[in-house]
Amino acid sequence: MGEPLGTPVLVVGAGGFVGSRVARGLAAGGRPVLAASRGPLPDAGRSPGVHHCRYTDLASLPAAVQETCTAAGLALPGGVVASVGGWHKGPGLLELDPVVWRETLESHLTAHLLAARALVPLLAQARAQAQARAATGGPRPYIVLNGAASHEAMSGSGAISVTGAGLSMLVRVLRTEAAERGTPVRFHELVIDDAVAADDRNETPARTVDPARVVAALGEMLDRSDADAVVHLAGEPPA
Ligand SMILES: NC(=O)c1ccc[n+]([C@@H]2O[C@H](COP(=O)([O-])OP(=O)(O)OC[C@H]3O[C@@H](n4cnc5c(N)ncnc54)[C@H](OP(=O)(O)O)[C@@H]3O)[C@@H](O)[C@H]2O)c1
Repeated sequence: MGEPLGTPVLVVGAGGFVGSRVARGLAAGGRPVLAASRGPLPDAGRSPGVHHCRYTDLASLPAAVQETCTAAGLALPGGVVASVGGWHKGPGLLELDPVVWRETLESHLTAHLLAARALVPLLAQARAQAQARAATGGPRPYIVLNGAASHEAMSGSGAISVTGAGLSMLVRVLRTEAAERGTPVRFHELVIDDAVAADDRNETPARTVDPARVVAALGEMLDRSDADAVVHLAGEPPA
């Protein structure tokens, strides 16, 4: 992140399957992690280096992050990983309950916009504070996780394909607007192109991605200011 390893990274969606593993994995690599979730963490927040940041809605997340940082004696986060959304299979688009469609738009797309709106000013504030401490002040990384449905028309997961494609464009527009406006944040997308290993919601996947590879890819994107805007992570046949 252009900052010392002691600068925390904020993981949003840390109560989820991928987010909880990302939070624990980044912390195991030596970074303090602010694990933001609206409910309890799967391991009840017992992982070393993981600081649970419980919040109610995305508008209140910056205040919850500030409180958690103050209580833990941490600087404000130097980067964000948004692990918000998920995957499920169900009826075809023409049969999909409109309520489910609207809920998916909310959880898989609108939530990402609301998270970015809440957290980009916080990253800018954190960067200004770091500059005041004479730490380096490059743009702060904001990494959005996405899946194969974003670029593959998936039968039975239509709402997730549509929101995933929309999410890719959301990140592209945020990146373009940040460049135009001089916003000190670099936007990236990490697309996990196969099921994450051990997620039982994926039925007998032909290829899986070990969570450790997701953590390693994120670590590199967080640390390298010249990281690719979009990174794909393909799976391997299960061992
Ligand atoms: N699991 C896989 O095999 C897999 C494969 C490829 C890509 N991915 C990608 O990984 C990311 C996370 O997927 P996942 O499988 O971990 O999903 P998940 O277990 O369903 O977790 C999704 C998280 O999204 C958050 N969320 C949902 N609606 C929200 C809202 N309105 N406001 C704030 N947060 C909200 C929840 O956060 P809280 O903690 O606050 O409840 C939840 O923990 C997605 O981008 C997905 O495409 C997953």
